[in-house]
Amino acid sequence: MKIGVLCSGGDAPGMNPCLRAIIRAGEKYNDIVVGIRRGYEGLLKEDFWGGVDRKIDPREVSGLTSRGGAFLNSSRCKRMMEEEGLREAAEILTNHCFDALLTIGGNGTLSGARDLCKYWDGQVIGLPGTIDNDLMGTDYTIGFATAVQTGVEAIDKLRDTAGSHDMMFVVEVMGRRCGDLATCIALASGCEVVAVPEVKTEITEIIADLKRFKALGTRSIIMVVAEGDDYGGAAEIMKGLKEAGSPFEMRSVILGHIQRGGVPAPADRILATKLGCFAVDALHLGETGKMAGEIAGKLVLSNFDEVLAQRRDTAVDMVKMIERMSI
Ligand code: F6P
Repeated sequence: MKIGVLCSGGDAPGMNPCLRAIIRAGEKYNDIVVGIRRGYEGLLKEDFWGGVDRKIDPREVSGLTSRGGAFLNSSRCKRMMEEEGLREAAEILTNHCFDALLTIGGNGTLSGARDLCKYWDGQVIGLPGTIDNDLMGTDYTIGFATAVQTGVEAIDKLRDTAGSHDMMFVVEVMGRRCGDLATCIALASGCEVVAVPEVKTEITEIIADLKRFKALGTRSIIMVVAEGDDYGGAAEIMKGLKEAGSPFEMRSVILGHIQRGGVPAPADRILATKLGCFAVDALHLGETGKMAGEIAGKLVLSNFDEVLAQRRDTAVDMVKMIERMSI
């Protein structure tokens, strides 16, 4: 089987171990796994790793388990949202005799994969690679565990300063449509307040909490804000709190792209390897139009439509738990 593989969208720690797993898993079937550089953009430009018929040797990917980023590079590609781009991608895959395509990425990548299936009769399987954990069809996405760890390490440091100066930090983490990253970071680092897109942010309620904390003798506060929060990012929230009379001196910090890089955490390496092998096996069972994921310890395939139609609501309960811990 000739399989094309690409990473698309924002990079995520674990994409490299996932590529390694796919390339090595293909050996069992004598597959020719061809790397497509820079995601769908590279596919449309026919930019292949060493050439369109060049099989990536399994030895070439040694050492990739511990490397962040994506050695094939990644990109966002607007043309895959248009019929013309999708048709062109399908034509390129057909012309070069690909049997299947594996795409590693988030929401946009999987939408592209789903739409490509309408124009190409080869097999397409997606793998969830994003720090956002915003996809249905898997408990965790590849990259999430590392991003949580990065966020927690940063907040542990900020807590030292917050404690030394009796102050509050408003820390913005990534997560445009999903608060999973914010809530997991907040819970793991013992933050007092969290703001996520899934729950309406009320400045007056936060002020009441802050006054309560102050009265209880709490000296330092950390608030985690998901970048996609309905009120705005860390700077807007801090401004709102200041105007409403925050009892703490405040500073805002944006963690930004720091969360996307770094050595993949073991949990991401393990998930990436499991899903990479599973996706290759799925292709050989004739599967297509699905995303590989892990739910409750079981490897599963879910139709692209199911994965993309719904939104996760796991952050809502987590917000309640963070409130329960903030006493
Ligand atoms: O989807 C991953 C992600 O890191 C989001 O959390 C964030 O909103 C976005 O990508 C940032 O994208 P870019 O690097 O293109 O600005």
